[in-house]
Amino acid sequence: MAGLDRDTARDWIERWDRQQEESLPDREDRFTALIDAVEEGTERPDPLVLDIGCGPGSLAVRLLARLPRATVIGIDADPVSLTLARAANRDVPGLRFADLDLRTPGWSARLDLTRAPDAAVSTTALHWLPEPDLRALYAELASVLRPGGLLLDGDHFTLDGKESPVLVRLDLALRRREDERRFPGGHPESWSAWWQAAAADPVLAGHVAERERRQVEAGHHGTQSSLLATHVAALRAAGFAEVGTLWQRGDNRLLAGVLPPASSPAARAAARSRSAGRRSTPAGAPGDRPRPARRGTRARSRRALRSAAR
Ligand SMILES: C[S@@+](CC[C@H](N)C(=O)[O-])C[C@H]1O[C@@H](n2cnc3c(N)ncnc32)[C@H](O)[C@@H]1O
Repeated sequence: MAGLDRDTARDWIERWDRQQEESLPDREDRFTALIDAVEEGTERPDPLVLDIGCGPGSLAVRLLARLPRATVIGIDADPVSLTLARAANRDVPGLRFADLDLRTPGWSARLDLTRAPDAAVSTTALHWLPEPDLRALYAELASVLRPGGLLLDGDHFTLDGKESPVLVRLDLALRRREDERRFPGGHPESWSAWWQAAAADPVLAGHVAERERRQVEAGHHGTQSSLLATHVAALRAAGFAEVGTLWQRGDNRLLAGVLPPASSPAARAAARSRSAGRRSTPAGAPGDRPRPARRGTRARSRRALRSAAR
């Protein structure tokens, strides 16, 4: 990380936040609602929280500012975001980052967890995953979170255009109108402009090249898993007992999934399966987490609005 000092990293993250807010005017409100839900839903001052698709750590940092006794593990596959997150937050207790691709089943075994996390949180990230990978991710989360654990996902979740064509059109029109009112002269810095600027900075250029080599964004067009129904069905299939929207503005929602409590037959069955998984883990294998229960197989205006935040 030579050459990237903390203040420069923080400046880049500040610029990231402004860029994300261009298409998410309520981003801070959504962070606040999500952290409220962590605080209320985990019912402990020191929750262990996974931030999946953490980017440069915007949510993780806000969560720790509100809950300083929490432990947050930010997970991402993007070397630029992780480099910025680590450089900006070296001295933040309770915060660490893991370089992992969430599409690779078994990613959680590499987190070296000492106990089951209380919650998994995510913002503007899981729509990047194709549906089979999303289903596998939710199944893996259901196998590692504690009984009663929470999944809290802030993202754009669209309705099905076949079932609700008018609502989908109106939703898009409202977003477009709001965008035109907020930015009559065009956006100050788009997603792609931020990345071009990062690539032009000699301190970040090597990490941007590594990001391209890894093809972090390959195949992502902002609509991989954007349907609300896809997430709800995948969470239910993974074993989340309660699934619903906790906060919403337009299609910008905070979707929540709650695992069954420890006393439920489903949680007891999951615990038995976790214990069987642990017994079959070879001694000395990294981490002590179970393998996932299952694994999956593997319009310009809409895209423009979505891709501004990605
Ligand atoms: C739009 S950014 C949002 C970042 C951050 N959560 C925020 O709200 O600012 C989406 C993030 O998801 C990450 N991501 C997408 N697919 C991923 C995958 N398969 N594994 C790990 N991270 C992934 C990207 O690298 C990126 O950092």
